[in-house]
Amino acid sequence: MSATVVDGNAQGAALRARVAEAVRGLRARGVTPGLAVVLVGEDPASRVYVKNKSARTVEAGMRSFDHKLPADASEAEILDLVRRLNADEAVDGILVQLPLPPHIAPAKVLLAIDPAKDVDGFHPVNAGRLATGQKALVPCTPLGCVILAKSVHPSLAGMEAVVVGRSNIVGKPVAQLLLAESCTVTIAHSRTRDLPAVCRRADLLVAAVGRPEMIRGGWIKPGATVIDVGINRVPNPAAGDGKTKLVGDVAFAEAAEVAGAITPVPGGVGPMTIACLLRNTLQAACDRRS
Ligand code: GUN
Repeated sequence: MSATVVDGNAQGAALRARVAEAVRGLRARGVTPGLAVVLVGEDPASRVYVKNKSARTVEAGMRSFDHKLPADASEAEILDLVRRLNADEAVDGILVQLPLPPHIAPAKVLLAIDPAKDVDGFHPVNAGRLATGQKALVPCTPLGCVILAKSVHPSLAGMEAVVVGRSNIVGKPVAQLLLAESCTVTIAHSRTRDLPAVCRRADLLVAAVGRPEMIRGGWIKPGATVIDVGINRVPNPAAGDGKTKLVGDVAFAEAAEVAGAITPVPGGVGPMTIACLLRNTLQAACDRRS
């Protein structure tokens, strides 16, 4: 392996420590930031994320408000909860865990969140602010990707960046953030022609497709920086007993032979997402009072 492995665990912990330090300062002035997390239903992965978020929020010195609704909660109930959280002075950030059950329209719920408390950065007002270069609450995973990329290249200006994936949650906002960093940005997706050739142009490759190990070593430009957003659970025959393991969207071992720097899965982008959520909650708490 020739690539430097970018340590998201260490960088996530460092960012959380900086947030905790700032929270100590706020608390000394009588302000304790609060994050409300809304979980609808019993999705096992979502339950784990939410538990983790609450623990990290409290560790950072903030208040955590967990709201669990049953899988058959109505849209009206969820909207009513969001409106109450919007009006609650103790709540600086609101996160509605996705995915929502199929009978709930996520766009309607996200639209109901006060943009000033939208710590996920999913509200169209924040997406629009990001796209037009205004101060915004920025989606956490994309922000984590850019922080990791900048730990390798403090200036990303002029780099050829290829983002594989066009979701509202990762692909589009990470492309906007990289554009704001003066990268030349290509967004590739499932209909892109000759995806390997497009990826090989990238000095900075961000993989956010949700397909295990789709991006192969031969798709990577020698020396490129590779940020792998994928978290895919796959069978692990080597471990036996029907065990599973987590892999990214990039075939790590192959890619690490070619890349200059690469994020691992797990331990890369994942820990940055939660650290950025705490950072956004701190930002919302400060901005709401300024
Ligand atoms: N589900 C998986 N990742 C996320 C995230 O970053 N925010 C929300 N709200 N739901 C998610």
